Amino acid sequence: MKTVLIIGASSKIASETAKIFAEKNYKIILSGRDLQKLDSVKKDILAYYPQSFIENHIIDILNYNSHKEFLNQIISQYGEIDIVLIAYGTLANQKLIENDFEKIKKEFEINLLSIISLTTIFAEYFEKMKKGTIAVISSVAGDRGRQSNFIYGTSKGAVSIYLQGLRNCLYKSNVQVLTIKPGFVDTPMTADINKNFLFAQAKDIAIGIVKAIENKKDIVYLPSFWRLIMFIIKIIPEKIFKRLSL
Ligand SMILES: NC(=O)c1ccc[n+]([C@@H]2O[C@H](COP(=O)([O-])OP(=O)(O)OC[C@H]3O[C@@H](n4cnc5c(N)ncnc54)[C@H](OP(=O)(O)O)[C@@H]3O)[C@@H](O)[C@H]2O)c1
Repeated sequence: MKTVLIIGASSKIASETAKIFAEKNYKIILSGRDLQKLDSVKKDILAYYPQSFIENHIIDILNYNSHKEFLNQIISQYGEIDIVLIAYGTLANQKLIENDFEKIKKEFEINLLSIISLTTIFAEYFEKMKKGTIAVISSVAGDRGRQSNFIYGTSKGAVSIYLQGLRNCLYKSNVQVLTIKPGFVDTPMTADINKNFLFAQAKDIAIGIVKAIENKKDIVYLPSFWRLIMFIIKIIPEKIFKRLSL
């Protein structure tokens, strides 16, 4: 039985993914900052799959110095980890933060620096074991900077490049590094955005995440049509792109 640790497990996408892991009989550790929310995710999964092994564990993602101890505690309490899925994130309103550096910094601490801190520790752990999976939810927003969300996009783009380097580093140690790039997904994060045909359901993204982990993929666009959309967006010459209202 494989063990998956999900950090940011109260996220809609993560909780749907946890449900699929439960269906497939994985041992699951749900981690996040709010125990009540983790309990509710656990309860929901157990209602569908009562035999599942699920534990909850608090993490302070912004207390970087605690991350090593966090992993040590997880291993000593639940044993070896096979997969870590990092799912948390924030999508701030670009207009409300773009002139406030303290707020911008906070976004980078959540969406980028904490992820580098955690993946550094997990990379060392898996490298020694010569196996394991580090999966991180990035975003298509990181593929090209746009006026409507380039602070979020920069953090996600940096995460994607960081993971690309890490993947290259860990290849010889047989460690999978998966970059997950969803397009628009109907979750609390996008509650204020008008929905259109491009929006996917979290459950479908979750299916894609588990499939990509099990098939040892490197980068996955979810739904897959986003690979084509982003290919087209990336090849638009900058001279034209800078004039567009995107
Ligand atoms: N929804 C989309 O359209 C979309 C598209 C592309 C990528 N993504 C990415 O997918 C991932 C999951 O997002 P979602 O759509 O499922 O959103 P969600 O349901 O709103 O979940 C956001 C998660 O981030 C956690 N979080 C936010 N700030 C935090 C902080 N300071 N410390 C610790 N945890 C914090 C939340 O924890 P609490 O529950 O404790 O608040 C929650 O678990 C994110 O990385 C997001 O950027 C989403």
